[in-house]
Amino acid sequence: MSQKNREHWGSKTAFVLAAAGSAVGLGNIWKFPYIAHHNGGGKFVLIYLICIAIVGLPVLVAEMMVGRATQKSPVAAIEELSGKGSPWAFIGYLGVAASFVVLSFYIVVAGWVMHYIVLAATNTFAGMQPEQFGKTFGDLYVSPGLNIFWATLFMAITYLVVKGGIKGGIERTTNLLMPGLFVLLILILVWCVSLPNGAFSEALNYLFTGKDEIEGAAVLEALGHSFFTLSLGMGAMLTYGSYLDNKVDLFKAGMWVAILDTVIALVASIIIMSIMFANTESSFGGGPGLLFVNLPQALVQMPGGYFVTLFFFVLVFFAALTSAISLLEVAVAFLIDKGWDRKLATNVMAFSIWIVGIPSALSASAAWKAVFGEVTMFDIAGKTTFFDKMDYLASNWMLPIGGLAIALYVGFSLSSKLRDEQFHLGMNKKSAWHFKPWELFTRFVAPIVIILIILIEAGAVKKDTVNKFFDQILGQNSTVTQQEAKPAKSEK
Ligand code: TRP
Repeated sequence: MSQKNREHWGSKTAFVLAAAGSAVGLGNIWKFPYIAHHNGGGKFVLIYLICIAIVGLPVLVAEMMVGRATQKSPVAAIEELSGKGSPWAFIGYLGVAASFVVLSFYIVVAGWVMHYIVLAATNTFAGMQPEQFGKTFGDLYVSPGLNIFWATLFMAITYLVVKGGIKGGIERTTNLLMPGLFVLLILILVWCVSLPNGAFSEALNYLFTGKDEIEGAAVLEALGHSFFTLSLGMGAMLTYGSYLDNKVDLFKAGMWVAILDTVIALVASIIIMSIMFANTESSFGGGPGLLFVNLPQALVQMPGGYFVTLFFFVLVFFAALTSAISLLEVAVAFLIDKGWDRKLATNVMAFSIWIVGIPSALSASAAWKAVFGEVTMFDIAGKTTFFDKMDYLASNWMLPIGGLAIALYVGFSLSSKLRDEQFHLGMNKKSAWHFKPWELFTRFVAPIVIILIILIEAGAVKKDTVNKFFDQILGQNSTVTQQEAKPAKSEK
């Protein structure tokens, strides 16, 4: 386990910013605000915070631990710890596969974001009629040319960063973009305080007090999302952890990543809710419509709307890029540990993922429809397009299964001695009080909870049963109040 030959992060802060960059992505800025609103805020947000603490954080630390202990990316790391041919190595292969799947649709959405930066910068939204906002996005959504162009450009930028290596590429970029993201977020948040109709306090109220009752099954949504948002279950945090040296306190670093990710998701929710509440005419949509239709429409008549729209899309671009970098790094590090040089590995992986991304970029276009069948716009739940299917496959299956496997591997296959040693490296103490609780959560709490999500996803447990079960725990009766619990949901 020599640490000599491997490139390392320049500092602990550099790691935290890079890992937070991976975690903070479209999941925080678009998906979380939407599901928090959809589930009525309040109790849902509280449950989400608990999920991050009892499932997300333990698994995050477990991933970082395997990476740091071996100084290798997933497949090579597990082979080093458990021997070549260890069945656990499937975690690594699954992770590489997941990076293909997630990145292939991520580049399409990030491409839309870049297109919107141009629209915002050129002040195209000013003077648009309400129905034109939907049409603008609809046209982009089905355009083969624009989708391919922007997805390709975004992939090229991601490629250039990853090719630069850990210090020269990834660290340099994330250490620039993450502070930039914080600044933009704070600027927009401050601007939101001045919004009319008491929108800002209404947003705070909705998010933190919200409805008394939520649908029991929403607990599962909170859990599933806590995985996605922390980039867990596919070896991304394991890979970033492999560039850490022994001076770093893993738990503390992981804690920082989780805190930054959570705070940013909450701030993004306050921003989006304030803007939507301030504008009573624009509906609070779900799916891509929220970001690309409702939000620009709500912002267009507001004072300072030009800058806020522009800053907002730049911010989303930063978030998407720092996540995409880590997704590509997972695949690239796999080849590097097989003996490839970084440049060649990046060329091969970036090109392959770009190819896999093409169907996602084209799946809504007329030509694709003619060949592969009908699609419905914004229909995420129906998962009709190739793009939606990729998202579903990764978020609902690959990441939870990968996360479960990591927790079980670290919790049961690795020795307690190794866990103990890694946990306490970089601390001044020999035995920290939180070691045992972390172990307990990694070995039992996280796996049990994840197995439950997978069973429900597979249809082995009925949603109704889940609802009743959580109703009991939460001391409520959501089956009666379900309608009332999400009044503001309005799909495009
Ligand atoms: N965490 C990212 C987000 O919130 C998405 C994501 C999921 C991801 N898994 C990942 C990013 C693995 C990088 C690596 O949008």
